[in-house]
Amino acid sequence: MKIFVDSANLDEIEDALKRGFPAGVTTNPSIMSKEKRTDFGLHIRQIIELLQRYECAIPLSVEVFSLEPREMVRQALEFREQFGDYPGLNIKVPIGWNELAVIRELKKQGMRVNCTCCMSLNQAVMAAGAGADFVSLFYGRIRDIGYDAFSVVQRTHQVFREGGISSEIIVGSIRHIHDVNDALLAGANIVTVPPKFFPQLVSHPKTDEAVNQFIDDFRNWQEH
Ligand code: E4P
Repeated sequence: MKIFVDSANLDEIEDALKRGFPAGVTTNPSIMSKEKRTDFGLHIRQIIELLQRYECAIPLSVEVFSLEPREMVRQALEFREQFGDYPGLNIKVPIGWNELAVIRELKKQGMRVNCTCCMSLNQAVMAAGAGADFVSLFYGRIRDIGYDAFSVVQRTHQVFREGGISSEIIVGSIRHIHDVNDALLAGANIVTVPPKFFPQLVSHPKTDEAVNQFIDDFRNWQEH
């Protein structure tokens, strides 16, 4: 079970890297757009330099920003040109009929692919069939239109396991810390989490109570 950082913010990524738990980083064009306007390539390079500074070679998903398949391939090859020195680079391509051919082409070119924006078992199966190394299911968005996101992840995990499909299931679109637990329980290999949730993932009122009690008891013992 792995936790990825769902952010392009250098400070947020570094705060997580300092704590050792990130097994990867995912970005997307909307996540990038939250950053101060800058050169796209320069910003991705800064993320890579940060990962290298923390001696990481963990997966970094960089998403194409076109709707046109030929342009997607061109962008992906450009990403390889620019960032291919980073061993964890993978290209995010949204699921779609024409995008399956993009995924196949990128795999033929030796690239790792994260097929994103998946909302259903069938989309995940098709993405895996095209060769995607990761399939990203969007938990929050699946639930937004009333579908049972837990069941989609659980069934995808079951079909992948029983079908011997090696693609890893990333669950993103996390809207609450319960989504993290639920996604892992449903069988996600990876949950990619917005950094705002990280402190919540390690917090609990009974933990605070216990820790404070221990310190108080120790102090009282030492002082009396
Ligand atoms: C994963 O990397 C996805 O791009 C991301 O989690 C999507 O989140 P959203 O549905 O809140 O945009």
